[in-house]
Amino acid sequence: MAELSITSLGKSFGDVRALDDVSIVAEEGKLLTLLGPSGCGKSTTLWSVAGLHTPDTGAISIGDRVVYDAASGTEVPPEERQCGVVFQSYAIWPHMSVADNVGYPLKLRKVAKQQRRERVEEVLALVELDDLGGRYPHELSGGQQQRVALARALAYQPRLLLLDEPFSNLDAKLRERARDWLRDLQQRVGITTVFVTHDQDEALSMSDRVVVMNAGRVAQIGTPEEVYRDPADGFVADFVGSINLVPGEIVGHDGADIDFVVDGTREAIRVRVDGDVRLGPGRLGIRPETISIVGDIDQPGTVRGTALERRFLGDHYRQTIGIGDARVAVQTHLASIPDHPVLRLPDICKVFPASEPTAESSTNPNSLETT
Ligand SMILES: Nc1ncnc2c1ncn2[C@@H]1O[C@H](COP(=O)(O)OP(=O)(O)O)[C@@H](O)[C@H]1O
Ligand SMILES: [Mg+2]
Repeated sequence: MAELSITSLGKSFGDVRALDDVSIVAEEGKLLTLLGPSGCGKSTTLWSVAGLHTPDTGAISIGDRVVYDAASGTEVPPEERQCGVVFQSYAIWPHMSVADNVGYPLKLRKVAKQQRRERVEEVLALVELDDLGGRYPHELSGGQQQRVALARALAYQPRLLLLDEPFSNLDAKLRERARDWLRDLQQRVGITTVFVTHDQDEALSMSDRVVVMNAGRVAQIGTPEEVYRDPADGFVADFVGSINLVPGEIVGHDGADIDFVVDGTREAIRVRVDGDVRLGPGRLGIRPETISIVGDIDQPGTVRGTALERRFLGDHYRQTIGIGDARVAVQTHLASIPDHPVLRLPDICKVFPASEPTAESSTNPNSLETT
């Protein structure tokens, strides 16, 4: 059952097309993540659902209630949409105790004092802040403040939990813990949740489904496994995880087997690919963990390169191998490799069009430069 249904949403800020024909369905009780680089329209989508932005076109339903419909002029005010919202800045009130912060939405809704106290205790227990109701925000750590914001969002039992980069002010270790903890809480409460992040690890590890957004549009919707293993285009492949996008040319093919000449080399590599094959320029998409370094050049799908760079990353090395004009990242346990190692490409690679916007032009810290 769809708890949230967004249909053909459009929104412009002056000349900026923030949302362009965005359609998303979030299933009841599941956690859906909006993932994409800064400025791609994640917050605008979330705020439109909460009723804090008015879109220009499209429709939004929560449960069976239409809360926004441009065509009929329907626009339900935010306080009637039953959304619990947590922002990046927690926006908890510094002059109010934890219990008062959490109870505030109930007070606004004129819930009786005794009932209010009980519910505040209940949600504080839920976020594991049982004994801290009397404290003030400045007496809490960043992680605890985050949980106060979450408790406040959950206090009046919303239908939808909307979280806009809620962990971005936490340090790396704490973020990882917060991730597990929130996922566990979301499943226990069983609340339909839309989570916004630009962090692919967060998106992959927490979500039932991921919506990858790019420049105001939905690039792909799928399970974490689907968007990682079967990216819809070069942008998704590059933004979700690390991938080598090796430029070259398809010079021949036999069914799904292609002969690919990497730019700056002469000999074709024969690889099997997934997807449509078209002769001409293209990019071969290969994840670093799917390439192995082997001893023998005589097998199909092998190519000799030049060792350029080695990085130690704790649980593996990242070796950068030059093949023609491309720099190919390989994830390996081998600390030392020959000067001219032979790479074996995976059994099935993906091909992408030669020219397509990729996440490299944006802020993806995991992006691998291949040229
Ligand atoms: N209030 C606003 N006024 C003008 N432009 C805005 C406003 N809010 C968002 N934008 C623009 O809309 C685009 C999408 O923004 P946003 O949804 O905040 O992206 P994200 O949350 O993915 O980083 C960006 O180009 C941003 O600059
Ligand atoms: Mg944002």
